[in-house]
Amino acid sequence: MAFPIQRPRRLRRTEALRSFVREARLSPEGFVYPLFICPGEGVRKEVRSMPGVFNLSVDEAVKECREVKSLGIPSVILFGLPEAKDEKATGAWADDGIVQKAARAIKREVPGLLLMGDVCLCEYMSHGHCGIVKPVTAPQSVGAAAAAPPPQVKVEDYEIINDATLDILARTAVSQAKAGMDIIAPSDMMDGRVAAIRTALDKNGFEQIPILSYAAKFASGFYGPFREAADSAPQFGDRRSYQMDSANLREAMREIALDLEEGADMIMVKPAIAYLDVIAEARRRFDVPIAAYQVSGEYAMIKAAAQNNWIDHDRVMLESLLSIQRAGASIVLTYFAKEVARLLA
Ligand code: PBG
Repeated sequence: MAFPIQRPRRLRRTEALRSFVREARLSPEGFVYPLFICPGEGVRKEVRSMPGVFNLSVDEAVKECREVKSLGIPSVILFGLPEAKDEKATGAWADDGIVQKAARAIKREVPGLLLMGDVCLCEYMSHGHCGIVKPVTAPQSVGAAAAAPPPQVKVEDYEIINDATLDILARTAVSQAKAGMDIIAPSDMMDGRVAAIRTALDKNGFEQIPILSYAAKFASGFYGPFREAADSAPQFGDRRSYQMDSANLREAMREIALDLEEGADMIMVKPAIAYLDVIAEARRRFDVPIAAYQVSGEYAMIKAAAQNNWIDHDRVMLESLLSIQRAGASIVLTYFAKEVARLLA
């Protein structure tokens, strides 16, 4: 008998055969393209650490959305850079907030595009945290301390107040739904936010608006460039008391289960590439649509290495997205959405 009998290479011999037996296929049908909306008109300002990604004024965002739709990308997620920040995140829930304005304009000008609203407060809080900040031991009043924490004050001296934050998040979600958002995506990581948002949406007649929760969102170094793009870096401390510890897969499953109990319709794992095991395990355990966010740092690393000619840009871009899809995410938020759609067309 000839040896070997099993020859996996038989099916790799030609591109026709390889394509024929391919298990996963990249497609823009599950892509979500992130947009950063800023004040002004005719503004198109490139983010230094994210080549090809821009801060866009509402009019420019509308143009961008036309292009996104024409490329076959079904959805965009909106982040806002407000005119002003405060300690109540007014810009997040104001009816004339930057994201609400953009949502109205895009809904009107580019009907049919699925509008996703990121519900979080960090971009709208003067201190850059995703919830209300309260000093634990500091002698000053709450407002004064939160507005200008002395640099020597340690993280342990502050607490992010969970339950009071829920009201602001719920209010933000309702104002986004009113502005025309089709999907509400809370990314703050407060406990109980999905239930709070679901209740508020239902009370305001938005029981048909689905929630995609950033259920397993890790405290990650990969968010660096985003914080520049959205001007949302915490002014003191970090996000480790609300975002998850990178080491914890079991806790991620618990977070997902809780969000589903609270009424999430879809869940997200974030970042993507460093958490493919979390995506795969979530796919095995939960029968809901699973999204993954290929975050700013993942994008920036590929761009930077490609600019140095250290890697082949398109190849690595496609390979990374394929791995995310193969792990089990059918929805992928990615800054590469337009480039991939063009390449596949
Ligand atoms: C807001 C938010 C962040 C991202 C999405 N929503 C930043 C953060 O949590 O610090 C990161 C996205 C990216 O890095 O591309 N909380």
